[in-house]
Amino acid sequence: MVAMDNLQMTSQTAQFNLSAYLLEHQSLVEAALDRAISVVYPEKIYEAMRYSLLAGGKRLRPILCLATCQMAGGTLETAMPTACALEMIHTMSLIHDDLPAMDNDDYRRGKLTNHKVYGEDIAILAGDGLLAYAFEFVATNTFNVPAEQVLKVIAKLGRAVGAAGLVGGQVVDLESEGKTDVSLETLNFIHNHKTAALLEASVVCGGILAGMSEEDLQRLSGFSQNIGLAFQIIDDVLDITSTQEQLGKTAGKDLQAQKVTYPSLWGIEESLHQARQLIAAAIAQLEPFGDKATPLKAIAHYITSRTH
Ligand code: FPP
Ligand code: MG
Repeated sequence: MVAMDNLQMTSQTAQFNLSAYLLEHQSLVEAALDRAISVVYPEKIYEAMRYSLLAGGKRLRPILCLATCQMAGGTLETAMPTACALEMIHTMSLIHDDLPAMDNDDYRRGKLTNHKVYGEDIAILAGDGLLAYAFEFVATNTFNVPAEQVLKVIAKLGRAVGAAGLVGGQVVDLESEGKTDVSLETLNFIHNHKTAALLEASVVCGGILAGMSEEDLQRLSGFSQNIGLAFQIIDDVLDITSTQEQLGKTAGKDLQAQKVTYPSLWGIEESLHQARQLIAAAIAQLEPFGDKATPLKAIAHYITSRTH
């Protein structure tokens, strides 16, 4: 079954140039993010917000949102404000995650972390500013979509960020620090909330904006939860196998902190095997969408083959 899937993928994606697709969408997202925030008084906070927001990155969440909206017949313009909001939320979560009170990291996306440049006080406020603006941006910039659908997107984003999502996952992650007996169930909880929740929201919001049915949104939810977990497994593996230059952030941190991770529970080979299985299960959810799902399928494959 998995082998069949891979064979089908090869023929479907033979015509599809993922690198070109990612580059094109990345540059559209970069331009939209650049336009989204300008520097006005008090300049320092806008500069701090822009420093982290425009520091590069894969822009995976916005691209997932755009790709899903397009798959469902919607336009890039419709999904772009939500795509930008997703990156604002993701960026703010990383600014706060890097603070001395949390992971105390000096590098992110190949640059000094926000608090290293602007100080802790401004870094906290830059995160807060980005979080609030993300919601304002969706509400005021999404056009030609029924208000009810925009409201659903805002609710979905709020749930993905709050205690039922990122915040909850981060709390359990912090509580698990220094423990060597973290169970697989707890590890899954952490990553389903800290990582998969926002990836799921990225995909599902793209579908909501395009007016997809509940049934299709459920499929997308299954797809994205699976790729969310696979993404985290690969992240854990890369922390062991990659260099700081490749990652743009400190490598080997998990081992150093003796953190329980998927490779520490399963080993690298088994972790890669599990990630591939999750990707195959994710791709199976997209079958009803036919060839239109090719970009999403290719992105799912890219998640297991990426090196940073
Ligand atoms: C990186 O994890 C961190 C996250 C994916 C999100 C952390 C969430 C918060 C700090 C909550 C933020 C607050 C709101 C309101 C959303 P990692 O430390 O495992 O990975 P890293 O190596 O990239 O730092
Ligand atoms: Mg961290």
